[in-house]
Amino acid sequence: MVPILEMKNIVKQFPGVLANDNVNLTVEKGSIHALMGENGAGKSTLMNILYGLYSPSSGEILFNGKEIKITSPRNAIEQGIGMVHQHFMLIPALSVIENVVLGKPGNKTVLELKNDAEAFVALGARYNMKIDPYALVSDLSVGQQQRVEILKAIYRGAELLVLDEPTAVLTPQEVTELFKIMNQLKEEGKTIIFISHKLNEVFAICDTITVLRLGRSQPSVTAASTNSEELAEMMVGRKCFLDVDKGEYNPGETVLKMEHVFTKGTHEALNDINLEIKKGEILGLAGVDGNGQDALIDAISGLTKVSSGKIFIKGNDMTGSSPRDILEQKVSHIPADRHKRGMVSTMSVKENMILISYYKKPFSKGLFLNGKFIEENATEIVEKFKVKTPSIEEMAGKLSGGNQQKLVLGRELSREPDFIIAAHPVRGLDIGATEYVHECLVAERDRGGAVLLVSTELDEVLTLADRIAVMYEGKIMGILDKEDYDITRIGMMMAGQNQ
Ligand SMILES: Nc1ncnc2c1ncn2[C@@H]1O[C@H](COP(=O)(O)OP(=O)(O)O)[C@@H](O)[C@H]1O
Ligand SMILES: [Mg+2]
Repeated sequence: MVPILEMKNIVKQFPGVLANDNVNLTVEKGSIHALMGENGAGKSTLMNILYGLYSPSSGEILFNGKEIKITSPRNAIEQGIGMVHQHFMLIPALSVIENVVLGKPGNKTVLELKNDAEAFVALGARYNMKIDPYALVSDLSVGQQQRVEILKAIYRGAELLVLDEPTAVLTPQEVTELFKIMNQLKEEGKTIIFISHKLNEVFAICDTITVLRLGRSQPSVTAASTNSEELAEMMVGRKCFLDVDKGEYNPGETVLKMEHVFTKGTHEALNDINLEIKKGEILGLAGVDGNGQDALIDAISGLTKVSSGKIFIKGNDMTGSSPRDILEQKVSHIPADRHKRGMVSTMSVKENMILISYYKKPFSKGLFLNGKFIEENATEIVEKFKVKTPSIEEMAGKLSGGNQQKLVLGRELSREPDFIIAAHPVRGLDIGATEYVHECLVAERDRGGAVLLVSTELDEVLTLADRIAVMYEGKIMGILDKEDYDITRIGMMMAGQNQ
């Protein structure tokens, strides 16, 4: 049998990121094929290439046995390839049917639109979906919008349908509905590529599975011939983090304590978090990105209010306190996205060094900033943390990623914090900078600081953490002591399975 799709040796290079590194993917006609992998593995990039949103740096695509070029999403759909994105692309201000015919060539008359609407409603009925074609998209629930997107692709003639993490935004009941629709499409001979990182979903619905890891594809396996352990290991893989010398584990008093913390919101909202971090320990928070890690950090640092529960820092009840009050408890934050939160690219190195403490002595003298002290402070940090910069007047945005991170690290750690939140502190850094950041975090722990290390790199967590907590959909699935570390078990917890 000829496969419906073959993507061969696909390479996609973004500036500084090799998102797809020689990926091979073969999909059989009439199958449901899972594309799995951690956040950042390159799944969406690969599918965006297939849908004509990106052109590959190299590689070829065969569809029904023939090599094709895909120049745009419209061109993709003309060739029978449809895609529903992670973030929906319907236009909220238009009605369902206007969205459906949008992009079909030619302006439609009212009568034609009416015919389309009738045909679309009939198509929906075939899949047990009740659809009001004249409803505004902005009035539909997320689940309804997703079903409209799927139907729209089918209506426009998709033979191959890509669903990019469709279940991430759905309730369990909606997931069941979606799976019914997917199975029916399969029975009708359509082919589906289903992106997910959840093992139970993949086993529930898929025939074959391809795992991407750091932009590279693993050989495909059939669902019948593999198991959760094998897939979890393929997904989390092994990246080499060098061992760091650590003092003995000797935890002291509790620094952070969270009791039954809930926040409001989506599936990423916190759901009954109980967590303690002590002086002199690194608690590693593992999990696939987007499972509430950001919500946890925001709650601790006062950026979002908890809807119930308590947060104590060094025994003080900080529930509902402002971010500044929390910083005053000697809490430091090395953020995941240093460009958004950690530093201001257009400000100088020197100015970035005082971003969070400008209002305090000795940086400010009355109403004025104390220029001499600011310069001395910046020079000291640059030297101590080995930030490579022509001068402290250089624009921070001009430094390399590793040096920007050292700058943020230097600013945050020179405060001698009692509690350090480090979120993906080495993301995008080279080995040298990674090693340096790790050494700094361990030094803080050995000094008696409490460190929360959030990372999706399991090996980073395994190397550095004294205890590991695993998050999944806003909950802590479990907390492991060092002697219980087990990569497969953690991988399963990351995928929402409790052994
Ligand atoms: N338009 C882009 N420009 C630069 N880098 C990108 C772009 N899109 C994705 N990336 C990077 O490519 C890598 C793979 O991303 P993506 O394909 O979205 O992963 P996944 O869907 O598996 O989570 C990531 O490191 C991401 O930051
Ligand atoms: Mg993606």
